[in-house]
Amino acid sequence: MSNERVIIFDTTLRDGEQAPGAAMTINEKLRIAHQLARLKVDVIEAGFPISSPAQFEAVQRIAKEVEGPVICGLARAVEDDVRAAGEALITGTKTRIHTFIATSDIHINAKFGDDRFGKTMEEKRQTILRMTDEAVRLARTYTNDVEFSAEDAGRTDLDFLCEVVAVASAAGATTINIPDTTGYCVPKEYAELFRMARERCGLPEHVILSTHCHDDLGLAVANSLAGVLAGARQIECTINGIGERAGNASLEEVVMALKVRSGRFGLDTGINTPLLTETSKMVSIATGFMVPPNKAVVGGNAFSHEAGIHQHGVLKSRETYEIMKAEDVGQEAEAIRLGRHSGRHGLFNRLEKLGVFVGDEQKQEVYQKFVDLADRKKEIYDEDLLHLVEDARAKARTNHYRLDQMHVSSGTGREPRAEVLVYHHATDVAQKEVADGDGPVDAIYKAIDQATGSHHDLISYSIRSVSEGADAMGEVTVLISDGGAYFRGLARSTDVLQASADAYVEALNQLEAFRTEEKSVAFVGNGIMQSFQGGIA
Ligand code: KIV
Ligand code: ZN
Repeated sequence: MSNERVIIFDTTLRDGEQAPGAAMTINEKLRIAHQLARLKVDVIEAGFPISSPAQFEAVQRIAKEVEGPVICGLARAVEDDVRAAGEALITGTKTRIHTFIATSDIHINAKFGDDRFGKTMEEKRQTILRMTDEAVRLARTYTNDVEFSAEDAGRTDLDFLCEVVAVASAAGATTINIPDTTGYCVPKEYAELFRMARERCGLPEHVILSTHCHDDLGLAVANSLAGVLAGARQIECTINGIGERAGNASLEEVVMALKVRSGRFGLDTGINTPLLTETSKMVSIATGFMVPPNKAVVGGNAFSHEAGIHQHGVLKSRETYEIMKAEDVGQEAEAIRLGRHSGRHGLFNRLEKLGVFVGDEQKQEVYQKFVDLADRKKEIYDEDLLHLVEDARAKARTNHYRLDQMHVSSGTGREPRAEVLVYHHATDVAQKEVADGDGPVDAIYKAIDQATGSHHDLISYSIRSVSEGADAMGEVTVLISDGGAYFRGLARSTDVLQASADAYVEALNQLEAFRTEEKSVAFVGNGIMQSFQGGIA
């Protein structure tokens, strides 16, 4: 008998993007949505259309351009929100509106405190029931696939939760989500909510119950799994577990728990698990959130063995210390660590696997650096190799551009403007350009593009603080691409605009070197994904 199916509802682009600092551009969202479709998630929650024109456009474009999964838009249980979600999804073929309303007393008091929602808690709850009914019915006029969430269900009075669930179902909700919005529940009590919903709320068989867990107590994955054991058949989760505050349940962890322990759960997902690590890296690059090396499933160390006793065991049989196959999640079977005896062949083989191409004229230089490093360091990691190659390349390369001057002005009520002076090595001429932008960095990049005349795609920009205090050092990483090749620029400064400009010029210099004479080092095609072990920091 085959296992029952659990629907994987990915909310990386909605709840995940709500993580402070994780905002993504529309192009980044589209790229991730296509990747989620390759990963074979069942539902992509693409955004919250009423919340901003950019959110609306992202949902609209994903619904129009991404095939495979159901595309979902979020809406509060109010008319304008539901209509905005319906409009944004209108061109999609498989679409869902996800409408929600707060149901716990704490939330009701905070959000519906005004007397117009009712004077007593009982009256306010009646208002919530009415709004639930109206929102779900309105959503059904746009699509037959409607999800309802009782926000803060984890702290909601059980009788009232049951009433709301019953009203949503009667109004036509096809999925009912019981979120632990604040990450408050422990697995046993979260599971109880699902048993209660099935047993007491009179739900028809076809209505699917869903988990949605936050990780405030580090229990999001455990609670999601407890939910499916108690009858939920949809899990809402995000890549790398990103999301509000401490984040959401991590997709890769719930999916692999169901797969590795399939005997215990008896449930399947449709996820194409060998794409998990690649997808994790893509989200890490787009958000600038590093994946910790010890992160379950997709972390750089998840399949590395350091202690001698573990290494011996694994060499004899991988099962001694590994419960899943590295290749099943898109990691390498063994984290190969090069040492001084690895030789030229081992080195260039490894670089090739990382997607790094080294031209013949640079091979000796790179190899010599490797030998020097191997004398000082017992084991050489992929990150060491990438640094080493980048150093060799920077030394050998003629810099085509140099940023000689930059002036940026921005302020309340005025459009940011940047003026740059870029020196061109080939012509010995310095080019001055001025550009306006959506923000100061955008203005700088536009001015530099004009001054260099370069055409390429900006794939990602991320910034992180690498020291503390108001004068903290900012580290900017920029990734640009031209055709199948990718180029990274990295710069540090206490002036983040300067670091942003320097990183960009560095990436352009690499691109130009690749385009013209040198073709020395580039990250090729998907190699970029392997090249950023642990994110782009
Ligand atoms: O955490 C939450 O309750 C949510 C809802 C919108 C489902 O994100
Ligand atoms: Zn949430």
